[in-house]
Amino acid sequence: MPECHSTNTLAMELSQRGSIADGTVVITDNQQAGRGQRGNQWISEPGKNLTFSVVLKPGFLKADRQFRLTQVISLAVTDYLKNRLDATVKIKWPNDILVNELKICGILIENSLSGEIIQFVVAGIGLNVNQIMLPNLKATSLKQEAGKDSNLEIELELLLHAIEGRYQQLRNGNSYQLENDYLMNLYRNGEFQVFNTKDGVLTGMIEGVDQRGRLIIQSSSGKRFYDLKEISFADKEL
Ligand code: BTN
Repeated sequence: MPECHSTNTLAMELSQRGSIADGTVVITDNQQAGRGQRGNQWISEPGKNLTFSVVLKPGFLKADRQFRLTQVISLAVTDYLKNRLDATVKIKWPNDILVNELKICGILIENSLSGEIIQFVVAGIGLNVNQIMLPNLKATSLKQEAGKDSNLEIELELLLHAIEGRYQQLRNGNSYQLENDYLMNLYRNGEFQVFNTKDGVLTGMIEGVDQRGRLIIQSSSGKRFYDLKEISFADKEL
């Protein structure tokens, strides 16, 4: 569609009406009210980037394992970018994608749950492709990294193919691989860091994520678990 407010909002509305199939993609060239994590906006220059949402209906997955979908989508974007660029690609917990430490892609996953059941999931992806005037110094785009324009339709196809591959891994019950690959690609995993947390400044090491997707930090006072809004790197605000 040429323009819309937010592909995530639209995909959620369509899914709630029940009129949307597993794997449906809602995409726009001009997203006017893109939404990000933590209530942030997602701003994208019209016609330059990929802004889309994929509707998934993982009937095989229990609600308490929904973090697997974050792993599926972030690994798929990582796989795709590693094929496209000769650069270091990392996942900044839980699902920002960094190329050479700069953010190239944001992901917003929204679920509709009914008790133990996941009714549907909307995985929204904003990938900076041909935009070069980026609003943030800590952001980058495919063009900035590759030095040339890319065809949005081709990039979309490659990215959807990568999503299908990782989703298939989940469907096949290959969670161990997803877990392992997620940790292998996790930004600053296993390195000592200073964090700002809800309990104050903490020095420790990322040890992984738990089943709920909470970040596990090992510090001198033992293991601690953090949700999204409760922790950030002290030296860096992306
Ligand atoms: C973030 O990094 O904060 C997440 C950004 C997610 C942006 C995408 S663009 C397509 C989809 N529709 C939205 O409104 N948001 C997501």
